[in-house]
Amino acid sequence: MSLVSLAGVAKHVTLPDDSRLDILRGVDLEVAAGEHVSIVGRSGSGKSTLLNIMGLLDSPSEGVVAFEGREVGRMRPGTLDRLRGRSVGFIFQQFNLLAGRSALENVAMPLSYARGRAFWSRRRLAAEMLDRVGLLHRLDSPPEQLSGGEQQRVAIARALVRRPALILADEPTGALDVDTGASVMTLLDEIASDSDAALVTITHDVHVAARARRHYRLEDGVLAPVELDTEYRRTALGAVSPA
Ligand SMILES: Nc1ncnc2c1ncn2[C@@H]1O[C@H](COP(=O)(O)OP(=O)(O)OP(=O)(O)O)[C@@H](O)[C@H]1O
Ligand SMILES: [Mg+2]
Repeated sequence: MSLVSLAGVAKHVTLPDDSRLDILRGVDLEVAAGEHVSIVGRSGSGKSTLLNIMGLLDSPSEGVVAFEGREVGRMRPGTLDRLRGRSVGFIFQQFNLLAGRSALENVAMPLSYARGRAFWSRRRLAAEMLDRVGLLHRLDSPPEQLSGGEQQRVAIARALVRRPALILADEPTGALDVDTGASVMTLLDEIASDSDAALVTITHDVHVAARARRHYRLEDGVLAPVELDTEYRRTALGAVSPA
């Protein structure tokens, strides 16, 4: 059974001039536990919109989203919020950490909405996750005192501290240099496969995309599978400026 499935998903909005903007059209996608899927596409192609729908943050205008076989559109708001909190971890390009709060507090934050043991042990669980991303020695540092790569590792620890079944990463290396980005992706891959979580990565970077097992391209809201060879060629050719 797939962890998350989208069938015929479309998203459209009405713009201030009353025209209709189709952001996603007829998207079908199934992601199973333990899979790593990448999605590439140019700016404005609908990538973040798609990720927000998969992460139960946004709802489609048409089509069906199911999580662990249950239709999301039929859930009550409270059920949906709990499912998202327990099952989905988001990682963003700009880290989105709280300034002035320590790394430990940032990572413990999602557990303050948990119940029982996860709630009472939140500081210990947060410290364990920070240890896992190699930052045990920086528990008390606020984000503004950490490097970009360290901040992204804190953000990864925060996204994964509840052991989500689905990890959604929106340009996770977009603000990092190539080497730091590669080490952050290696870490993310490792932690995802340790816990058999599914990982969906949105990226402009074919090297980051290449780490996934299945590859898709989003173009004007239409999602299609791609062969990475083609994608490499397209990027390589695109990178050559005419003499
Ligand atoms: N609520 C909204 N109202 C109007 N337009 C929207 C809304 N949400 C998204 N859009 C538009 O839909 C398109 C897709 O947006 P989205 O953020 O999904 O793109 P993206 O592929 O993530 O782009 P980027 O690579 O720049 O992050 C954009 O043109 C955006 O302006
Ligand atoms: Mg985006």
